[in-house]
Amino acid sequence: MKIIKLSATESTNDYLKELMSLKRLSDFTIVTADAQTKGRGQVSASWESEPGKNLTFSVLKRHNGLYLDNHFMISMCVSCAVYEVLLNLGLPRLRVKWPNDILSGTSKVCGILIENSIAGQKIQTSVIGIGLNVNQVLFSNQAKASSLKLVLGREINLDNLLQTLLDTLQRYLNDIRSSTWNSMLSQYENILFNKNSPATFQEPNGPLFTGIIKGITKEGKLRLTLEDDSVREYDLKEIKLHY
Ligand code: BTN
Repeated sequence: MKIIKLSATESTNDYLKELMSLKRLSDFTIVTADAQTKGRGQVSASWESEPGKNLTFSVLKRHNGLYLDNHFMISMCVSCAVYEVLLNLGLPRLRVKWPNDILSGTSKVCGILIENSIAGQKIQTSVIGIGLNVNQVLFSNQAKASSLKLVLGREINLDNLLQTLLDTLQRYLNDIRSSTWNSMLSQYENILFNKNSPATFQEPNGPLFTGIIKGITKEGKLRLTLEDDSVREYDLKEIKLHY
């Protein structure tokens, strides 16, 4: 494991991808930054994080022979690894909101942005970006955001937490080829936010509607049953869960 520590960069995901284009990096090269000036979130959102208070880092995972069809395994492994670390820290009411937001109650404490490079039918590398709100206590313009300090009421040592996260991620990701889809899926679905309970959803610019999360498809889509008992599957860009 090689860790590159930066005081500031635009985005650790972008820094790592840029470095990968310049030289061959070994599996589990990590880039962390105290501050990001253009932190990126999912679906073209930005990721705001107060400098020096939180963890913002990216991990390079090299895969050997992971088929594109199995891409959601990466998401499930990373979510379950972060969940395990936060559970051990004592965070209450932890859930993973599909595909990979980590919530304590209904507050988001961690966001994950995974960017894969693909050759043919296989995933070559994943850049796994993790933004974990640790010691930040003020979140303007982020109504649903919280941090470990706000939830636990105590300051957390960033270096120790980073090391625990990296060790746990490495364990989950090293097992990715030997662990089966079904066992990983059941671990993931067990901690899935709002599973089997009615919730409000919205398609882009569409009306609100009620659905029940039934699970995840092989492609990593969200499977819902609607009020007329029909079953529908949605991609990340196709649906928003109101909570
Ligand atoms: C999301 O919830 O929308 C995903 C947020 C991911 C944020 C992390 S912080 C480290 C890495 N670098 C980025 O620019 N984004 C990810």
